[in-house]
Amino acid sequence: MLTLPFTKNGKKPAESNGYPLISLRGVDKLYKTAVGDFPALVNVDLDIKAGEFVSVIGKSGSGKTTLLNMVTGIDRPSAGEVWVNETAVHELGENKMARWRGINLGIVFQFFQLLPMLSVIENIMLPMDFCKTFPKNERKDRALALLEQMELADHAYKLPTALSGGQQQRVAIARGLANDPPVIIADEPTGNLDSKTAERVFGLFNELVAQGKTIIIVTHDNEMAKRASRVALIADGEIVSDKPNGVKA
Ligand SMILES: Nc1ncnc2c1ncn2[C@@H]1O[C@H](COP(=O)(O)OP(=O)(O)OP(=O)(O)O)[C@@H](O)[C@H]1O
Ligand SMILES: [Mg+2]
Repeated sequence: MLTLPFTKNGKKPAESNGYPLISLRGVDKLYKTAVGDFPALVNVDLDIKAGEFVSVIGKSGSGKTTLLNMVTGIDRPSAGEVWVNETAVHELGENKMARWRGINLGIVFQFFQLLPMLSVIENIMLPMDFCKTFPKNERKDRALALLEQMELADHAYKLPTALSGGQQQRVAIARGLANDPPVIIADEPTGNLDSKTAERVFGLFNELVAQGKTIIIVTHDNEMAKRASRVALIADGEIVSDKPNGVKA
């Protein structure tokens, strides 16, 4: 598999300077609603080092997706700072954001967000076409290899709507890996998968961590969460526990 330099100028991961790779500092997120402001995140501090595999768990509505959206820059904090590998994500303008995100992050969305008018393979090639991370003549083979890894090669030329929920989820994972990003952010990536397939996806994530990637996943499945090296529990927008795995709460 081809690998990318960590950043465009080839800087080493920030952890080698003693700093965390991902850092949320005093992050608040208030959603404006018809009945007033709703605090979805309250004073969240979170530091993640390069090479960590972190699972975020918590009840529905506790703020897990909101937390991921702060790291990916999909949404902005109401207060506080978000740093990813020395980039101030909370300050990044929309123009720079899309390219920065495409190169640095592989995002697997809770509800997949596949483009319905593009075939499965085109969905996977899109991040590579957008960021030009791989030469044009390699992109299709790489997309097919990713689909094979997800046992979906036979579905490459179908539209996403012709696939089951679990198949679409695996396409979303393949797309998240398309640019070979150093950081993978996945929201319930195994939520629609049977336990055997979910197990395989976790196996793949563990391989990626062994290669030096940093991964944050959100999961409802406490047993799956234990497969990560660290588990952060969020309740009502606050991180109420954050422990390496194997340590009792
Ligand atoms: N755009 C929005 N406007 C107003 N409130 C929102 C918005 N998005 C999320 N919320 C609220 O913020 C809280 C956290 O939402 P979030 O989607 O982060 O939860 P979650 O932990 O990911 O839940 P789930 O496990 O169901 O996916 C919820 O109470 C939700 O209702
Ligand atoms: Mg969610």
